[in-house]
Amino acid sequence: MLLTKTFPFASVCANDISPVAVERAREKVGQCGNVKLCIQDFREISQTGLGTENHREVVVLILECLYYLGVGERQICVDRVRREFPKSLVFVSIPITGGDYFTETGLIDLFTSAKYSSRQFKVLNLRNDIPLIHPILEALVQHCFYLTSRAANQVVYLFVPEV
Ligand SMILES: C[S@@+](CC[C@H](N)C(=O)[O-])C[C@H]1O[C@@H](n2cnc3c(N)ncnc32)[C@H](O)[C@@H]1O
Repeated sequence: MLLTKTFPFASVCANDISPVAVERAREKVGQCGNVKLCIQDFREISQTGLGTENHREVVVLILECLYYLGVGERQICVDRVRREFPKSLVFVSIPITGGDYFTETGLIDLFTSAKYSSRQFKVLNLRNDIPLIHPILEALVQHCFYLTSRAANQVVYLFVPEV
């Protein structure tokens, strides 16, 4: 919904592997003419499946789902996106807290090996709410790599395909 409001002239094609998730999304975006929803596995994502092959410019958003894949499958998925959308910018939102999620270095290595470079990032929220220093920390993590990888929770990264 936010995407369609922010980019009213864009077509939004959203996929999820789960029919239930797609049905829920359909209930929410039912009235938006420029949204297309489809059941599609990111590991097998294709321009044909999404119907974007004739679109002038395609931007890929991988929002909060890369960590659902096993470690080996993550590389398959990113390589697939690189092959299917060779010129597209890719935005990835993800927690970088390690464990079952990602570390910042792990995520950047994954995309680097698929020949992307990491250009920008935006921290969405912090791991811990520390009342007094929270606003200062929130500002600092947007700029300082050392702090981002230690204090950020969810982050959006922009990856640009290398030519
Ligand atoms: C935390 S939810 C995020 C949903 C939505 N992308 C968002 O940002 O609000 C994770 C979603 O990833 C989906 N998912 C898991 N593995 C997937 C895959 N291989 N391909 C596509 N979607 C997948 C799940 O079905 C689930 O709906």
